Amino acid sequence: MAVDFSKYIASVQDFPNKGIVFRDITPILQDGELYRAATHELAEYAKSKNADVIVGPEARGFIVGCPVATELGLGFVPARKPHKLPREVERASYDLEYGSNSLEMHKDAIKPGQRVVVCDDLMATAGTLHAAKELIEGLGGKLVGAAFYIELPDLKGREKLPDVDIYSLVQYH
Ligand code: ADE
Repeated sequence: MAVDFSKYIASVQDFPNKGIVFRDITPILQDGELYRAATHELAEYAKSKNADVIVGPEARGFIVGCPVATELGLGFVPARKPHKLPREVERASYDLEYGSNSLEMHKDAIKPGQRVVVCDDLMATAGTLHAAKELIEGLGGKLVGAAFYIELPDLKGREKLPDVDIYSLVQYH
């Protein structure tokens, strides 16, 4: 039977700023069976897209994406906050539901033609995904899909990236 993951996501009012309802996935992570089930759902999606590599944006994308990569026997590429990666990088900037940031990837992280699935905990305005797409395509990869635990459809992330296939376990309106 399919798991209703929404039962295990905590909603926190006015965090980190007034007016934001923070969707907290840590109750899923704390439960080994749930974490494995959520990982498996995303891994099945990435497999259906014939992914060659998984990209995860810092920091929650590491938590979500790494186990997906290991379940499938694929490599994992971290998309990191500025000045964390030690070798030559590409950088892209983006806006968030609250605030803005930049992401960097090593220039040799993706091989030309590789099929990439981005994994993260939550898609809001799709700013992070937009930046990841720019980086992946700039390195010659193909973004074939993006998989999230949570999507906030009212923030219209899909409209920002109409050519990207998006999968999510739970949607909050
Ligand atoms: N990242 C962006 N918006 C968020 C939200 N509402 N809850 C948790 N993480 C987020």
